[in-house]
Amino acid sequence: MSVHIAAKKGEIAKTVLQPGDPLRAKYIADHFLEEVKLVSQTRGIFYFTGKYKGKEISVGASGMGIPSIGIYSYELFTEFNVDTIIRIGTCGAYTTDLKVFDLLNVEFSASESTYANYAWGIEGDLIAHQGKAFEMINETAGKLDLLIKPTNIHTSDIFYRKESGIPAIASKYNCSAVEMEAFALFANAQYLGKNAATILTVSDIIPTHENISADQRETALKPMIELALETALNF
Ligand code: HPA
Repeated sequence: MSVHIAAKKGEIAKTVLQPGDPLRAKYIADHFLEEVKLVSQTRGIFYFTGKYKGKEISVGASGMGIPSIGIYSYELFTEFNVDTIIRIGTCGAYTTDLKVFDLLNVEFSASESTYANYAWGIEGDLIAHQGKAFEMINETAGKLDLLIKPTNIHTSDIFYRKESGIPAIASKYNCSAVEMEAFALFANAQYLGKNAATILTVSDIIPTHENISADQRETALKPMIELALETALNF
């Protein structure tokens, strides 16, 4: 048991899939895992452990934003001996070069956040994916015939803002999309020497306001979920 996760030691697998939304974690557990056990529901942030094709995997939410994923990923790595976290989330595209439903494998996250520096003394505003998960996602996508783009993204603290243009940091690092968590996950993994990757499905195109509708979301996220689960079989 950690401060924010009620699971007992040994109840969380070495590899964790981490969506932002607790109900998405439940959806994955219900539809893709066998022998599922709910191991934590503190604050409504569900963690499930079950089997996928015979391999033990946990799936649990990060909540939204850097502080929230900072807490959950740190406790998973340090209190539950998790080796690998694969974040599976959605993002907004800054450019019409990306389309809704596109799959992105995050190579670098750029952020204005002070999290990495204040927490771990990691300097700079750019942090890479950590360990071998990124490469395995690319390889697994190839085997599944799924197109996935290695991409730099902006991890923002801000969802609603006054200015509508592309933030300076996103232009500086050629970030084609924005989400709100990868930077803290990568920072924790870098400091702790763990594996961390982020797969994103483009859910909205910011310049055109096009987005995946609520009823499209379930099917839209299926390729990403399957890719993450199949990748997890390699660990
Ligand atoms: N901004 C930040 N995070 C997001 C967005 C967005 O537009 N879309 C999905 N996650």
